[in-house]
Amino acid sequence: MEKILQQALEHGKKYTHLGKSAGYIPELQKVPATDLGIYIETLEGDAYGVGDYEKKFTIQSISKVLVLTLALMDNGPDKVFEKVGMEATGDPFNSIVKLELKSLQKPLNPMINAGAIATTSLIGGKDGTEQIERIVEFARLVSGNASIGINEAVYKSEAQTGDRNRSLAYFMKSCGVILEDVEALIHVYFKQCAMEMTCKDLARIGALYSNNGICLETGKQIIPKSITRMVTAIMTTCGLYDASGEFAVQVGVPAKSGVGGGILATVPNKLGIGVYGPALDEKGNSTGGIKMLSYLSDALELSIF
Ligand code: DON
Repeated sequence: MEKILQQALEHGKKYTHLGKSAGYIPELQKVPATDLGIYIETLEGDAYGVGDYEKKFTIQSISKVLVLTLALMDNGPDKVFEKVGMEATGDPFNSIVKLELKSLQKPLNPMINAGAIATTSLIGGKDGTEQIERIVEFARLVSGNASIGINEAVYKSEAQTGDRNRSLAYFMKSCGVILEDVEALIHVYFKQCAMEMTCKDLARIGALYSNNGICLETGKQIIPKSITRMVTAIMTTCGLYDASGEFAVQVGVPAKSGVGGGILATVPNKLGIGVYGPALDEKGNSTGGIKMLSYLSDALELSIF
């Protein structure tokens, strides 16, 4: 396995020069775009890593997976999917266009920014502080890493520049999708995006979803199976935004990307994968990361299709 991972890394490295670190969040521009790492954890408990798998990065949109899961656990599917749909958009992650075109005016899915902001509003808690505490606590629980926290510099950087997200949130408030105070809500969203993890943490989370929500170490059901099924289905159709179809063809596993360069992948009943490569393509997905996953999927026959 180590050899295959090393080959996947070498393959991915050929593509990092084709991408750039996310420029629209100034703090993310400082990250070396040549970093690349991958970690795998199997349901048998075997684990392997190569490259920069111990480097911390902000998970950005990968937080949407955790927040959707927690929102479903807090509210049940009826209430969540009343507010946010489950259809792919074919549009970029921060697009506003479909919000006005669709008659229901709810965001199309929880993986795009608009949908994720609406999902965050459903997280239980008396205020934003309690909501983000619960999200971070949940991230620690599902990763088994009690030291997970928020990168304050990245959070502040996005809080200063995230006007597109504010626009999405204010638009949704004007339509009644969001009822709460937009500024308080958007800060919870920026903070969840700035949570820091490593490939190891992502692989552990991927393994949990692939094990139907049952913790590998304790055997405890951390997430109800019905919810892991819903969330991984949405990852499959929407996890890489307007590249989700191509990713399904080339890799074929449920996954979620983030502009910090991470990709969380979960192969049902087999293993979890965490990838880090901050050089992004024009759709905001890791160039080297996708190539590594595609290599691994071929070598280990991981595609679910
Ligand atoms: O809201 C944003 O724009 C970022 N905090 C997260 C976007 C993101 O990660 C898109 N993923 N590929």
